Amino acid sequence: MTSLVLTLTETLRYRGALGQWSWVLHRITGLGVLLFLVLHVIGVSWAVFFPELWEKEILIYQHPLFTIGEFALTACVIYHALNGLRIGILDYNPKWWKHQQQAAIYVLIGTVVILIPTFILMFQHVLKHYQSPEAPFIVSLAFIAEAQFPFLVGIVVAAVAAVLVSSVVGLFTGGGRASADKNARQSHHGSQLERFWWRFMRTSGILIVPLVFGHLILAHIVQGVFEINLINATIPGVPVNEALGMLANGINNSGTAVEYVAERWNFFAGPVAIWRLYDAALLALVTVHGFNGLRYVLTDYTQGSPLLRRAMGYLCAMGAVALLVVGTLALLGTIDQTMVDMARAAQDAILAGG
Ligand code: HEM
Ligand code: HEM
Repeated sequence: MTSLVLTLTETLRYRGALGQWSWVLHRITGLGVLLFLVLHVIGVSWAVFFPELWEKEILIYQHPLFTIGEFALTACVIYHALNGLRIGILDYNPKWWKHQQQAAIYVLIGTVVILIPTFILMFQHVLKHYQSPEAPFIVSLAFIAEAQFPFLVGIVVAAVAAVLVSSVVGLFTGGGRASADKNARQSHHGSQLERFWWRFMRTSGILIVPLVFGHLILAHIVQGVFEINLINATIPGVPVNEALGMLANGINNSGTAVEYVAERWNFFAGPVAIWRLYDAALLALVTVHGFNGLRYVLTDYTQGSPLLRRAMGYLCAMGAVALLVVGTLALLGTIDQTMVDMARAAQDAILAGG
């Protein structure tokens, strides 16, 4: 906690020191994207496990508040990606460190340059939605709060469980008291592991860039969030082929978010379900990268307490494993016409105010 206060006060005290600001921005943007990722992967998995809930979730994504959040999310991903590449390039070329202030400015300029056309293209989808002849449907804030509350409870329960597990481990290991020899061995092993994670963060960052930008281009630019449940809309990245079944023909015949996911995951290039494979790679990389990043942040702010520090490590490991399991099970699942019909009925009930 003391170091959290220190981060903020020192950042304000050295107002204008660009390195400090870009470090804080990198941290905030990484955490923001991770929070979205957790809600998002659980939400997508509902297309397979609870079709009505995914249908609800997409109506929530279409609320004006979430539209603002979507623009913020895009800005976060772009800044974090460019700054992450800057960190990686400078780390592997220490002689360039003297240019780091300049590089931080280039990152800010690059972010703005990419954001301007991106926001214009994204905004066109928003305009089209609000100018459509039928009045756009907007869910109530109470509806959003009710749907998002379980996520909050889940995060609190996971944090409490991590502290409990850490306390039990502390009891069995003598609360971290160990012989000097054991401590030395542990710290050697720990630093080897940390070196692995250091390299992993940089390598995964590079691999994430094309995957996450490809995903965002399809979900924000080729089409927008408003087209995910649009009746008879084409599905980005899936060629129209009327000869294939209703859930693989490249058209959202039912106008449900559930059919949208089915269409994408049922698309085969030869024998390969490429969008399932693509999403699996994205899921694995962003989850491990994001939760390891969260571990850096949380352990930074709990340096003073071995119990809490260990708990934060467990929390991140549990979070990553849980998200990987949920996301992978969804990717291995199937969506059939009955589920699409359930989603259609749920959407109709919400639109009718039910
Ligand atoms: C508002 C912005 C976004 C929208 C509308 C969106 C939409 C979707 C949709 C419709 C799917 C289902 C399958 C597919 O179409 O590929 C999906 C899957 C996925 N998205 Fe996004 N996405 C967004 C942003 C992101 C971001 C920023 C990330 C990464 C940080 C991400 C990571 C994933 C992952 C990992 C999956 C696979 C989930 C699973 O395995 O169950 N998405 N997304
Ligand atoms: C788009 C490509 C990305 C690149 C190039 C990138 C790069 C990086 C780099 C180089 C670091 C510093 C690691 C270190 O200090 O050892 C980092 C930290 C981090 N990243 Fe990413 N990243 C990307 C995407 C993401 C995504 C999608 C998320 C969220 C799911 C994320 C969350 C984080 C977090 C939370 C941190 C820790 C920040 C801190 O320690 O202050 N990153 N990233």
